[in-house]
Amino acid sequence: MRVVCPGSFDPVTNGHLDIITRSARMHQEVVVAVLRNPSKSALFTADERVEMLREVTADQPNVRVAKFNGLIVDFCRANEISAIVKGLRAVSDFDYEMQMAQMNYSQAGVETLFMTTNPLYAFLSSSLVKEFARYGGDVAGLVPASVLHRLADRLAVSDPAAH
Ligand code: PNS
Repeated sequence: MRVVCPGSFDPVTNGHLDIITRSARMHQEVVVAVLRNPSKSALFTADERVEMLREVTADQPNVRVAKFNGLIVDFCRANEISAIVKGLRAVSDFDYEMQMAQMNYSQAGVETLFMTTNPLYAFLSSSLVKEFARYGGDVAGLVPASVLHRLADRLAVSDPAAH
C-alpha cells in the first residue's frame, strides 16, 4: 500500500523520523508530504524542509518526499495514496487528529492510520525544538545531526544576539 505522512516538518524531528521509518517497514511506499503554506510562519522554506527530509530518509528506498498545497485528500487522490499515517503522541493530540481523520474519510473516503509515538519522543514537537534551540538549549538527540547543524546556522542568522 502507498501511504502518506503529511506535516509541516519545520524541521523534521527524530519523532517524525521514527514514524516515517516504522511506516516504511509496514507499507510498500511512504510519501512524506510537506505542507507548503502552513498558517504558522516557518523557520525553514518548504524546499529546505524537503531537502532535510530527503537527507535523513536517503537510506530508505521506499520513502519519497514531496511538497503539497491545499487539502491532503486532494494530494492523496492525485498520487493514488490509500491512507494517511499520523503519529499520536498523547491524549492531547487525539481530539484534533480524530476530527481531521473523520473529516477526510467522510468527505473523500481517505483512511487515516494512527501510530503510537515511541515514548522516547512523546514530548517532542518541531515548535519546542525551535524554542529550546533559539534560547541556547541543546537539542542534540531530538533531531537528526544534519538538522541540528542547519538549525544552529538558521538561528544564528535570524537572531545574532542569541549567540
Ligand atoms: O506538522 P503539522 O503542522 O501538525 O501537520 C498538519 C497537517 C499538514 C498534516 C494538516 O494540517 C493537514 O493535513 N493540512 C492540509 C490541509 C487539509 O487537508 N486540511 C483539512 C484537514 S481535515
